Amino acid sequence: MSSKITIAIDGFSSTGKSTLAKQLAKQLGYVFVDTGAMYRAITWYAMQNGYITSEHFDTSSLINSLPSIGLKFVFKQEVGFAAMFLNDVDVETEIRTIEVSGFVSKIAELAEVRAKLVEQQQEMGKDKGIVMDGRDIGTVVFPDAELKLYMTANAQTRAQRRYDELVAKGDAITFKEIYDNVVERDYIDTHRENSPLVKADDAIEIDNSDMTRESQLELVLELVNKLIA
Ligand code: DC
Repeated sequence: MSSKITIAIDGFSSTGKSTLAKQLAKQLGYVFVDTGAMYRAITWYAMQNGYITSEHFDTSSLINSLPSIGLKFVFKQEVGFAAMFLNDVDVETEIRTIEVSGFVSKIAELAEVRAKLVEQQQEMGKDKGIVMDGRDIGTVVFPDAELKLYMTANAQTRAQRRYDELVAKGDAITFKEIYDNVVERDYIDTHRENSPLVKADDAIEIDNSDMTRESQLELVLELVNKLIA
């Protein structure tokens, strides 16, 4: 029997990290964890409680309420993936809006938020056999992961992918709103003080601007097979 490994996928927003992670988890029979969903759920909680608005950000109230925020992934047979639950309520749809995307980088800057989520993520991956995607997985969460991928693609391509996704869901947004959000999040994610997005020294960079999902999966499965053979 081949041994189970840990696969860490980091990179800019909308580089298809979760899509790849889901495909890999399915092929390998591994657990898939989208850590962005966890930061998004805390953002949704902060918005619902009025801790973050376009006018103010009450960081201390949010930090004080962190112990009462329960996050878990619940597998949903009908859609074939795990949905994010916040205090036992399914928030999978709510956390994917442009409003949440607009605030999430600010929430993800807080050291207390990161500490809570990193601890949960490490617990989820303690038995290996996991594909986790985010911004700090190969650098902070699983620095010893056997396979680390660092995904990039140009901003135009990434914004177009996100735009197509949201339009297909019926969201009324403009391409410019999405593009500006992608560029702004790139900046905040790479410049923040706590666990900024950086490529781990031993990560393999994949620029998928001109790659199909299929060819990308094939490339990564080859890498995995070399490791678990
Ligand atoms: O992957 P995503 O776009 O859903 O992530 C949402 C935000 O959460 C992203 O702008 C940065 C933050 N994030 C993070 O700081 N660390 C992670 N491990 C995952 C996401």
